[in-house]
Amino acid sequence: MSEHPTPHALPHPWTEDPEFVELYDVENQGLWDFDFYRDLILGSGGRRVLDIGCGTGVLATALARDGLHVTGVDPAGAMISTARRRVQEAGVGQRVELIQGTAAQAEPSAFDAAIMMGHVAQYFLSRTAWDQALAEAYRALEPGGFLAFESRNPHGLDHDAWDEDSTKDTQAHPDGGTFTSWLEVVSIEHDDADGPLITARGHNVLPDGRHITADEPLRYRPLRVLRESLDKAGFTVEQTWGDWDRSPVEVDSPELIILARKPA
Ligand SMILES: C[S@@+](CC[C@H](N)C(=O)[O-])C[C@H]1O[C@@H](n2cnc3c(N)ncnc32)[C@H](O)[C@@H]1O
Repeated sequence: MSEHPTPHALPHPWTEDPEFVELYDVENQGLWDFDFYRDLILGSGGRRVLDIGCGTGVLATALARDGLHVTGVDPAGAMISTARRRVQEAGVGQRVELIQGTAAQAEPSAFDAAIMMGHVAQYFLSRTAWDQALAEAYRALEPGGFLAFESRNPHGLDHDAWDEDSTKDTQAHPDGGTFTSWLEVVSIEHDDADGPLITARGHNVLPDGRHITADEPLRYRPLRVLRESLDKAGFTVEQTWGDWDRSPVEVDSPELIILARKPA
């Protein structure tokens, strides 16, 4: 039994809700994935980066501070406005362009690196949408440029993958007090061709006691499907890793992290 009042579900995706995005921003400040992609991009000597699904702009701002030019694209208005604020506050506006939209709006053949951090790849639910996202990334890259992204490994995915006990966390709310958040898996639709589609429910109990929830569908593509779709889009898969410590992909690795290149 939950000790919380009846939850209030959002009528729209959480990425469009300023209150949810504010909490997301607290919870997603420079984690392992951030260090991984930042090191990868700085190590590659890339100068112009396309951040696809840039969210609240944490990585875009850091890369701009590192001296790189970044274009961040994201269709969610609440995400892009937080990113705009972050970029302005950091004083790196001259090196960051933010577009409310998709990679289709990015300049063609202009970037030496494109990234999708934060499991953005799993937001493309249909195979058509995913193939289109890869085609847009390919078009934006210069010949020889690379695309890097991760997707959670579908191996072992079940209703216990996320639950209140294993994901519950209480943190300081930016406006004072604390908030408590957790995740649960509410449904899993199996799909042998493209990988399972799960619906995750995010819960947040706010400092004023309100309990808000948002459901989010996510596609879990297996490595085989990711490789096939990259190949179809014209990329060469150069490297794969199974976790942020750069360990190789094993059957039960938590992540499928991929570096793919547009041929020179
Ligand atoms: C979990 S957030 C990750 C945000 C950010 N990359 C990070 O690591 O914090 C996923 C993001 O993907 C964005 N997204 C969804 N569909 C997209 C699309 N077609 N093109 C670009 N971004 C998209 C969402 O709006 C959301 O901001």
